[in-house]
Amino acid sequence: MIIASNFKTNHTRKSTASFVNEVNDFLKSNDISNEVIVFPTATSLDEFDTVPNLTIGTQNAYAVEKGSFTGEIGTTQLDEFAIKTILIGHSERRHVLGESQDEIAKKYAFFKELGYTIVYCIGEPLEVKEAGLEKTLEYVYEQFEGIDTNYENLILAYEPVWAIGTGVTATNEDITSVHSAIKGRIDKPLLYGGSVKVANVREICSLDGVDGALIGTASWVVEDFKQIIENTKDL
Ligand code: 13P
Repeated sequence: MIIASNFKTNHTRKSTASFVNEVNDFLKSNDISNEVIVFPTATSLDEFDTVPNLTIGTQNAYAVEKGSFTGEIGTTQLDEFAIKTILIGHSERRHVLGESQDEIAKKYAFFKELGYTIVYCIGEPLEVKEAGLEKTLEYVYEQFEGIDTNYENLILAYEPVWAIGTGVTATNEDITSVHSAIKGRIDKPLLYGGSVKVANVREICSLDGVDGALIGTASWVVEDFKQIIENTKDL
């Protein structure tokens, strides 16, 4: 099972350090073996002393080593902290920041070439969901355009846009039908994301075809995130 926290635009450098250290101590003292990934803001990346199953990843980076790309970070900045895990294709980058599939595919190819673990996000907006499962899958499969799905260090995350940050979690039926279809095509770990909470994480992670969760809002309070890890530790 993989349990991941996406901080989005939350936490400071100081509070990130205390969050990571607390999660690390929790994993260590409870002998928890599930994989845990934390994606802090770029300004809070650092070299943390963690157990092997706690990884720090970056929410984003530009597909470059270094150069003149105002506001972006490249691999020089990631290498400083030995960051080798990246989130690509998140719905907020697609729909709020306007990243195209073409840009996403280029970014994917660049970080794949460098051997990064890539958590690749896919998911449909509400109007597509309302058009039915077939349309949903069609939309989701288009998000694999230009993406090498055989890449060994690939983790997928199905995050329906309408479930992100809304408090509306996809139903178990929604999750299992989309997950089983994706898994039928692509044999990679597949996380679910979208209003996962302390109270429903165990049920969701127990569903067929769900290999873990990518959590925003409910993961930002460290006590809640530890409870999420606790609730899924034997899955
Ligand atoms: P929420 O858990 O806040 O719905 O966000 C999910 C998400 O986007 C994780 O990447």
